Amino acid sequence: MHFSVAIFLIGSVLLTQTDARYTADWKSLDARPLPSWYDEAKFGIFVHWGVFSVPGFESEWFWWHWQGQQPPDKKCVRYMTENYPPGFSYADFAPQFHAQFFNPEDWADIFQASGAKYVVLTAKHHEGFTNWGSPNSWNWNSVDNGPHRDLVGDLGNAVRNRSLHYGLYNSLYEWFNPLYLSDKKNGFKTQEFVLHKLLPELYNMVVRYKPELIWSDGDWEAPDTYWNSTEFLAWLYNDSPVKDTIVTNDRWGAGCSCHHGGYYNCADKFTPGEVPKHKWEKCTSVDLQSWGYRRNMKIVELMDLPDIIEDLVRTVALGGNYLLNVGPTPEGMIPPLFEERLRGVGAWLDVNGEAIYGSSPWRVQRQNKTDTFWFTSKGSTVYAFMTTKPKRVILTLYAPKTSDNTNVTLLGNPCPLTWFPITADAGLVVALPELPFTPGQAWTLKLDGVL
Ligand SMILES: *[C@@H]1O[C@H](CO)[C@@H](O)[C@H](O)[C@H]1NC(C)=O
Ligand SMILES: *[C@@H]1O[C@H](CO)[C@@H](O)[C@H](O)[C@H]1NC(C)=O
Ligand SMILES: *[C@@H]1O[C@H](CO)[C@@H](O)[C@H](O)[C@H]1NC(C)=O
Ligand SMILES: *[C@@H]1O[C@H](CO)[C@@H](O)[C@H](O)[C@H]1NC(C)=O
Repeated sequence: MHFSVAIFLIGSVLLTQTDARYTADWKSLDARPLPSWYDEAKFGIFVHWGVFSVPGFESEWFWWHWQGQQPPDKKCVRYMTENYPPGFSYADFAPQFHAQFFNPEDWADIFQASGAKYVVLTAKHHEGFTNWGSPNSWNWNSVDNGPHRDLVGDLGNAVRNRSLHYGLYNSLYEWFNPLYLSDKKNGFKTQEFVLHKLLPELYNMVVRYKPELIWSDGDWEAPDTYWNSTEFLAWLYNDSPVKDTIVTNDRWGAGCSCHHGGYYNCADKFTPGEVPKHKWEKCTSVDLQSWGYRRNMKIVELMDLPDIIEDLVRTVALGGNYLLNVGPTPEGMIPPLFEERLRGVGAWLDVNGEAIYGSSPWRVQRQNKTDTFWFTSKGSTVYAFMTTKPKRVILTLYAPKTSDNTNVTLLGNPCPLTWFPITADAGLVVALPELPFTPGQAWTLKLDGVL
């Protein structure tokens, strides 16, 4: 009840200061320009943290694999029978989510050092546990249970204090919520879960934490009309406290992904072959096997730094943002190996970030399919990334059109490099200096004054 009253009040207060109004349909919502901070940012950190971090086995889908899917995953069933007393339920993991070492300032320091410009935390994953004191998630939230702490709020303060943008991941569906299961049984013709759980919680989350990004997920079982997605987004874009800065993704109902919403994630780890027509983001995880923490993670299962840099460069060259995930432990630590990777990306961006932040795809994204040069641009400046060490000291770039005014440098090295045009029309050869050591194994040439 008080939910609709709150909406009514917010609505009437803000109605007075509107410019463009969006209507609750995709045609109108899809026409909203994406707030510019997002495309300029290029690089963000994704954080999967929840009760699933406690079993820390297989992935953040552990509960579903153990007790949801039919037949259950044998490895998960065995893990439970061998390590936990009979009758131990998933809910029994929550009190072990202690977060006793969680220091949001330490996390925010690491994220800032990574060079990321935004951070997206799981406010609620498919298990339904909220990392904040949601009044709609009785005893299944981080204030009444587990850490007894407002994880969403505490991390948000630390992240924003470092001038990073703060986003929240929210799963629309909840695997085992009885209201959801009953709606599902009714073929999604009833909306008990949406009207009494999901929407009040989502509106509350936005008003309370004012996220600048909502990373929606868990939408695919039901149409957007079941979730009331267009009604929610119209409020978000017209009347919410974040209407001017909020960025959303594309997971708002079956068939929406890659077609509707703000920017497009399409599938997890989506990697297009050419520049998509619509702004997109690649989300991926340092741990190749999971988004959530795994106790039995091995180093060979992680992306190494050169892999991450190559992936970042490819994504940005193709017009995307790169959202790199780490899974903290239930104690609240970011595993040191993840920290090392993030600091490594940041050290590389300290030198090469000029070619990433605020850049645009160039008319050519890649020299050819067999080599490893990727391009970005800013006006008449073109950046050419070398994501492996070139075999020769004389480098050939075929696409750039030079003029007498063209200058070529290596980022991080102030000396101009010697270069010659190949033909009057296009291409140049560049004499490379000795390339400095970098753990990222990638270097950037800056070409000023080329077409
Ligand atoms: C971060 O916090 C410090 C100490 O409270 C404060 O002085 C500073 O202005 C804050 N910075 C931002 C960007 O909020
Ligand atoms: C949900 O959507 C229906 C129409 O599809 C609309 O009548 C109803 O007011 C919406 N409810 C909320 C809370 O947005
Ligand atoms: C791709 O570029 C490299 C130089 O970086 C060149 O040696 C090679 O011949 C090119 N391949 C094609 C198919 O153009
Ligand atoms: C290249 O360097 C020369 C000499 O410093 C300078 O005059 C010229 O403007 C530079 N060209 C561009 C495109 O910046």
